Amino acid sequence: MSIKEEIGFERSLFLLKKVVKMNGKLITFEGIDGCGKTTLARAVCAALGIHRNDEKLTGIVFTKEPGDTALGQSLRTILQKQKEMVCDLAEFLLFAADRAQHFQTVIIPQLKQGSWIIADRLADSSVAYQGYGRGLDIAHIRATNAWAMQGVEPDLTIYVQIDIETARERFLQRNEVLSSFEREKHDFWQRVITGYEAIFAQRNNVLVIDGKLTTEQQVACIMAYFRQQQWL
Ligand code: TYD
Repeated sequence: MSIKEEIGFERSLFLLKKVVKMNGKLITFEGIDGCGKTTLARAVCAALGIHRNDEKLTGIVFTKEPGDTALGQSLRTILQKQKEMVCDLAEFLLFAADRAQHFQTVIIPQLKQGSWIIADRLADSSVAYQGYGRGLDIAHIRATNAWAMQGVEPDLTIYVQIDIETARERFLQRNEVLSSFEREKHDFWQRVITGYEAIFAQRNNVLVIDGKLTTEQQVACIMAYFRQQQWL
């Protein structure tokens, strides 16, 4: 029996997706640690601020996984500081629990109100890090993600592409104490990058941004993309 038949929620996800989407937009930022996506996501929020009163943009919400909810904050501490007590499958399920709470309490209500959600990481991080990086079953990860997200999918994913050495230099400079992910070796990061590229090769709503451009240049590319899509 396939995973889809086993779970049997495809149809209800399809119906939910239709109801939930309305006018909001879900825009995710992805990339390996140290690629600069958090700085970029915040800069994009600031750049969108001047359009706040436009007809097409009713609200802008910055969110982050893991940790945007109270439950997420607790999970984030375990995931980043106490990896030794969490096996790989439990690690994924904790990210999935954070995601379920995040969608139920933040993302879906905001999308219903028509907000643009700028999300610093989302489901693709689990496929890349837990699937390709840790070697967990990708079909199960995708199905659990879809469940946690109640069938909602990103309108756009912005992938900040960077080489492992540059990313590592950045997070070594930034953090005195490295998270359990930042302590991973070169092979792990290579698998995560391979994963991201495999995921995004199958999608037509991904904008790839060069992580070595300045933030201003990156924001200009993204704003130009929004205008080209007539989102602004
Ligand atoms: P964080 O400090 O938020 O790093 P970043 O600013 O790079 O997002 O830590 C989040 C870490 O959790 C990061 O190393 C990526 C990892 N992660 C996963 O492994 N799977 C996931 O599903 C998510 C959302 C994050």
